[in-house]
Amino acid sequence: MSERDPAAGDPAGPPEEDPRIRGEKHPVARMIALGIVLSLIGIAIALLIDWFPVSAAGSADEIDTVYDVLLICSVPVFILVMTVAIYSVVRFRAKPGDMRDGAPIHGNTRLEVVWVTIPFLMVTALAIYGWIVLDDLEAKQPNTLIVNVTGQQFTWSFDYPSEKVKSNTLVLPKDRPVEFRIHTKDVLHSFWVPEFRLKSDAVPGLTTKIRLTPNRIGRYQVVCAELCGIGHSTMRQNVRVIATADFDSWVDHQKQEAAPPSGEAEGGGGGGAGGAGGAGAAVFAANGCASCHTFKPANATGTVGPDLDEIKTPTAAFIRQSIVDPNKEVEEGFSPGIMPQDFGDKLSADELDALVEYLLKAQK
Ligand code: CUA
Repeated sequence: MSERDPAAGDPAGPPEEDPRIRGEKHPVARMIALGIVLSLIGIAIALLIDWFPVSAAGSADEIDTVYDVLLICSVPVFILVMTVAIYSVVRFRAKPGDMRDGAPIHGNTRLEVVWVTIPFLMVTALAIYGWIVLDDLEAKQPNTLIVNVTGQQFTWSFDYPSEKVKSNTLVLPKDRPVEFRIHTKDVLHSFWVPEFRLKSDAVPGLTTKIRLTPNRIGRYQVVCAELCGIGHSTMRQNVRVIATADFDSWVDHQKQEAAPPSGEAEGGGGGGAGGAGGAGAAVFAANGCASCHTFKPANATGTVGPDLDEIKTPTAAFIRQSIVDPNKEVEEGFSPGIMPQDFGDKLSADELDALVEYLLKAQK
């Protein structure tokens, strides 16, 4: 029912014959002026907002600059799209009762070339810029400290292969480059210290890497940034960046703590002498039990799994079964399959004995 007008066949033909469009000759100039003003305001707001926490690594400043550049580029695009959309909605809306079809516009080659080419160039330039920055951040550095990061439901553990030290707190010396080698024992996790900015997935079967240099002494948190199960939100641990001298003494301290071959023998012999709970407490800490369970002797406050201060059936046999075969008897209010099923393989017989004894001792 639409009356075809003479310009209908011309793809680039301006639809000036439509009386609804007639009238305003140069809305473009006004829209550009408005767009520039709004873009400047938008950029100012975007740059004023404090998007990130304090920066604690050399990489952070460069990454923040990348974000600023992305914001500066995307605000005008957003304003352009919104200005044209809002203008069109207001200016070309149909009057009540006007049931005619819209103007038969079939395309505009020049416009299409412009709106494909400009975004293509912008995105390509930003991708190259991002690649250059990332390549720079990932560059190998001399005197790098290697830290193996292992994620598992729902805890992180860290070991320092050259120092031969393990820890559940990530302790790093200030101003020394670090290479994190990230692993997972079960599902996907994502290793992220917001103050360091860089983030990497922990992928089953792969080792992913992040290189950065902490440059600010302080306490931060490593968080998991990949939904990995019911305890995902509890999967955070402390990070400490300390002076090099403090780091060296921390390493020495850790070595002393981790060297109780005599303690293990005592645990096996059933004696509760010097290291009462020592070996068991170490197993509890090293396997991340604290992130899921509450257990007062270990200052653990996790709530993903049952409270270990009041074990339902406080016998060695039940505790052992709950560790190696947790699905066999699941405490009311908790779901099967949350507790890792592989502690029976991971723990040595001595470690398992020590852990059972440690948990059993705390029961009333
Ligand atoms: Cu691990 Cu989320």
